[in-house]
Amino acid sequence: MIDLHCHLLHGVDDGPDSLDESLELCRIAVADGIGRAVVTPHIHPGRWDNDRLSAGQACAALQRELDSRCIPLQLGFAAEVRLTEFIPEQIAEGHIPFYGEIGGFRVMLLEFPHGHLIPGSDRLIEWLLEQGIRPLLAHPERNRQVMRDPAQLRPFIERGCWLQVTASSLTGQFGQHCRYVACQLLEQGAVKVLASDGHNARTRPPVLSGVFDYVAQKYGRDLAQQLFVDEPAAIAGAQFR
Ligand SMILES: [Fe+2]
Repeated sequence: MIDLHCHLLHGVDDGPDSLDESLELCRIAVADGIGRAVVTPHIHPGRWDNDRLSAGQACAALQRELDSRCIPLQLGFAAEVRLTEFIPEQIAEGHIPFYGEIGGFRVMLLEFPHGHLIPGSDRLIEWLLEQGIRPLLAHPERNRQVMRDPAQLRPFIERGCWLQVTASSLTGQFGQHCRYVACQLLEQGAVKVLASDGHNARTRPPVLSGVFDYVAQKYGRDLAQQLFVDEPAAIAGAQFR
């Protein structure tokens, strides 16, 4: 499996604090059957000031630590970019790391605020698409406005956004209502990829296998393969060649 959204780099955001914790998370991922992970540190101006250069350096440093310990996890990097008015400037300055390019679009993991959908965000989405950038929306099922009315996501999907749902949302980690919304999106065929959004070993480990089995059993193995392996490989596979 390929995990497209996880916080495995230490000291850069609300993921692990130390190298030991990073390595513990990587060992957990490997034991769970994850062979490739794209680390996605937060980029949120004034809160988490990461960028393409710093994320790339931290990712390469962690990869060296993994290799020296023979921990078989291949890392790539992107970022979980908070939707703010700074995005055009961040892109112009080359500060945003993308997953890769597919169908002529670079793919960017985009995070809405947790509480609401910012008015006018549809215009930013349109602007991104005009620039050849396709937003992959991070865990929309956990946005409170979407949870109240999932139809509010429809305009974003119709404009061309892809959706990344957090795997454990489907099995109830974020409550029954969130679970219902996640299942509804999946059943509508609106979900592009499932990812762990792993942050720590205790409450949010970088694991996928339990939900892979759940999806395979409930919806069929082909869909599980698509959401956990094939689509992530199509989006970010070039990072691992
Ligand atoms: Fe995240």
